[in-house]
Amino acid sequence: MAMRQLFPRTVDGIDALEAYGADARPPREVRPWVMLNMIASADGATAVEGRAGGLGGPADQEVLRTLRLLADVVLVGAGTIRAEGYAPHRPKPEMRAMRQERGQTPAATFAVLSASLDLDPTASVFAGAEPESRTIVFCPASSDPERRATLEKVADVVTAGETTVDLRAALGELDRRGSRLVLCEGGPILNGQLLADRLIDELCLTVSPMLVGGTASRVIHTTLASPTPIGLRLDRVLEADDGFLFLRYVVEEADRVAR
Ligand SMILES: NC(=O)c1ccc[n+]([C@@H]2O[C@H](COP(=O)([O-])OP(=O)(O)OC[C@H]3O[C@@H](n4cnc5c(N)ncnc54)[C@H](OP(=O)(O)O)[C@@H]3O)[C@@H](O)[C@H]2O)c1
Repeated sequence: MAMRQLFPRTVDGIDALEAYGADARPPREVRPWVMLNMIASADGATAVEGRAGGLGGPADQEVLRTLRLLADVVLVGAGTIRAEGYAPHRPKPEMRAMRQERGQTPAATFAVLSASLDLDPTASVFAGAEPESRTIVFCPASSDPERRATLEKVADVVTAGETTVDLRAALGELDRRGSRLVLCEGGPILNGQLLADRLIDELCLTVSPMLVGGTASRVIHTTLASPTPIGLRLDRVLEADDGFLFLRYVVEEADRVAR
């Protein structure tokens, strides 16, 4: 799917990997850079009939694949894993080599957040992961020990927080494991906590040319009536032939925290 850049200047024939791969993403002091990637319809819905797939298209898939290629870790909430049925990251051989040349594992590691640990251990995101990128499950100390023991057979289960996962602690653990770039793929509830903790550095927002209506969540869902807004700087806009827009925003420095 051909793509062009509309902003900051017009460029025809943009390659997604060249564009996103050249962006500066310096790790913070004690945590990796956190890049959020979400797709929403033109009226702001993040799912059609409970899944994001109904909003997507070939160019959106290409950008998703590109961002995963760049990431050390793909962070997702358990709600998204249950709704979408994720598969492990399986890059093509030349892309595995590219990652290894950059000092990364051949495939990105998935990290799932859950308190209930209501996760299917036979799901391919666990069972199909490569040994170098064994899936991580972050849970709080209060999680059920039996479910934890079951998941420990197929994933690295890491405690972070008492009754909910402390996101700073989880990101700190990823930092200790050598992660420099974490791609968060949602969903909206997890995104809301990242916003509340001011842990988002970049938002890659795909605008799908659809009107959806309904009750699907926005890109970020918080229970706070009005959390403090965070300022974004528009860095780039790409457009695909099929009308999808790819907006890259960087969070203003003053609205970020290193920890
Ligand atoms: N448009 C898009 O780009 C996009 C992307 C992703 C998802 N989606 C859609 O969004 C929906 C799912 O999103 P969602 O917002 O409902 O769920 P979500 O954010 O994916 O997951 C929420 C769940 O994650 C776990 N969790 C999150 N933060 C936690 C913390 N701090 N401590 C412990 N556990 C934590 C909890 O799991 P437990 O319940 O297991 O404790 C919580 O119920 C689906 O419809 C999906 O298709 C859309």
